[in-house]
Amino acid sequence: MVAKKVLEKTTDKKKVSKTDGKIYRIAGPVVVAKGIAAKMYDVVHVGNEALMGEVIQIDGDKSVIQVYEDTTGLTPGEPVVTTGAPLTVYLGPGLLKSIYDGIQRPLPVIMKTMGDFITRGVTASGLDLKKVWDFKATVKKGDTVKGGDIIGTVQESETVVHSIMIPSNFEETKVKDIKSGKYNVTEVIGTLEDGKELKLANEWPIRIPRKSRKKLLPSIPLITGQRVLDALFPLAKGGAAAIPGPFGAGKTVTQQSLAKWSDADIIVYIGCGERGNEMTEVLTEFPHLIDPKTGKALMNRTVLIANTSNMPVAAREASIYTGITIAEYYRDMGYSVALMADSTSRWAEAMREISSRLEEMPGEEGYPAYLSTRLAEFYERAGRITPLGTDKEGSVTIIGAVSPPGGDFSEPVTQNTLRVTKSFWALDAKLAQRRHFPSINWLTSYSLYNNTLNPWFAENVSSRWPELVSQFMVILQEEEKLQEIVQLVGSDALPEKQQVTLEVGRMIREYFLQQNAFHDVDTYCDPKKTYRLMETILHFASRAEDALDSGIPATSIILMKSKNMIADVKFEKDYDGLLDNITKEMDKEFDNLE
Ligand SMILES: Nc1ncnc2c1ncn2[C@@H]1O[C@H](COP(=O)(O)OP(=O)(O)O)[C@@H](O)[C@H]1O
Ligand SMILES: [Mg+2]
Repeated sequence: MVAKKVLEKTTDKKKVSKTDGKIYRIAGPVVVAKGIAAKMYDVVHVGNEALMGEVIQIDGDKSVIQVYEDTTGLTPGEPVVTTGAPLTVYLGPGLLKSIYDGIQRPLPVIMKTMGDFITRGVTASGLDLKKVWDFKATVKKGDTVKGGDIIGTVQESETVVHSIMIPSNFEETKVKDIKSGKYNVTEVIGTLEDGKELKLANEWPIRIPRKSRKKLLPSIPLITGQRVLDALFPLAKGGAAAIPGPFGAGKTVTQQSLAKWSDADIIVYIGCGERGNEMTEVLTEFPHLIDPKTGKALMNRTVLIANTSNMPVAAREASIYTGITIAEYYRDMGYSVALMADSTSRWAEAMREISSRLEEMPGEEGYPAYLSTRLAEFYERAGRITPLGTDKEGSVTIIGAVSPPGGDFSEPVTQNTLRVTKSFWALDAKLAQRRHFPSINWLTSYSLYNNTLNPWFAENVSSRWPELVSQFMVILQEEEKLQEIVQLVGSDALPEKQQVTLEVGRMIREYFLQQNAFHDVDTYCDPKKTYRLMETILHFASRAEDALDSGIPATSIILMKSKNMIADVKFEKDYDGLLDNITKEMDKEFDNLE
């Protein structure tokens, strides 16, 4: 456990406060201690078992502590010790492929028995302290360096090179000595002229965003491989998206699809407060997945954080901050990082519970007044930036699931989230019931990145991308209006042109928007294929319009066979030739009619 490590370190450096305190009061995850002289957000050890907690309020000689472990059985009078240091995450090689709990304790041991409580007071380093890494120095004696500079590399996993950086709070100075070689994370790899020592790993306080040099415009998309997202509601690398949806609508499946297929270099997946069995699925499935980009195990670029519903609520917040700090760390090496948090509502509920234990004045629906600030501060840690020490660019993209009770989007967590996220992917229980997956409602969802990302799609996929996307949206909106009329009077009463629009709308929904996360091929759709599907469907739409103009009845157009062949293309790998053929067939059918 990191904090224990901090304790050990502070023991020899700063000396732990002599005025050790005692437990005064216990209310669930909140413990009040007297006499520990701690600062805000100091990590403390609570009780005989040294449970880990964090000071969240100071009131005279009383310190209010949220405890990250189960507090059952604690009694007043037990000792409380402050470490004098904030909660940190241990950053260095070995993070990738790891599975952690909310406070960066590695979980593999309890993987098989997920659902049980972790034994309390357990300490385990976030990084393997013994593992030896092959460090290759990229700076030499006499080189000038400052905080954030990259001084060498380590091959962290089969597919990811880990840059070793000077801690960002270090002043500019010269390298005194540094040597390539084999080191574990605790060994000294070099020294600076100001006397500071360099190591492969360093700590960072989780509540403090890591600094960067410059914010960049989020003008490159995070390709998700999900047609509805990439085409209609794209997300930028460095952007933030919310996936609100009621239970069973597909939040977890969507988050996992993105973790598997999005084109980020590094994935941080936080299971926050959800049921243990969902997390077990992740923990058992992920290690077997293959990364389509590299053909190697997906875990090579993944960090999993699991803080399930049966674990203490206070650790939910820690899991969110631990995850985002790890994400920023890889961003600072020049990587694009995508972070998924499932679900941020469970974190908000933890805030509500702690706040009520503190007897704070409740805000909307019992959530604390600072709910909106906390959410905003979290999502603001997303961004595309130039790191302090390299001219590469890095990004952190955040995708947060929100679980509004009863699917009511007017509740505080959804509302406060949509204010600070620019892609809003609204999951719809009705669509899920109709087995329309992903059940992303195309009328209530939106992306404010459309305009910034259009140039990228135009340049990298097709110049016609933006135009086809807006045609799709127009047809889908029109279809919705027509559906209302059809409900009242039936489709026969509609003018011919609108009957064809209804048919094209159906094609878009069934052949394009629906995407099966569990089908080998359909689970991922590259942008080129997304484009070709749009193009083919709209080719039909435009030929149909011409045919109507030349007097061909809508019924003959709707009965055409070739267009329905598009339905199967999403399940095929070699789509290009198929779509060419279908287009030819459609043209033939139209030519014959005319
Ligand atoms: N893209 C998808 N493709 C196929 N099935 C899906 C898809 N998304 C969701 N589902 C189905 O819906 C179920 C519930 O989804 P889940 O993500 O667990 O919901 P939530 O996390 O919102 O409660 C899944 O078990 C799956 O059967
Ligand atoms: Mg879920």
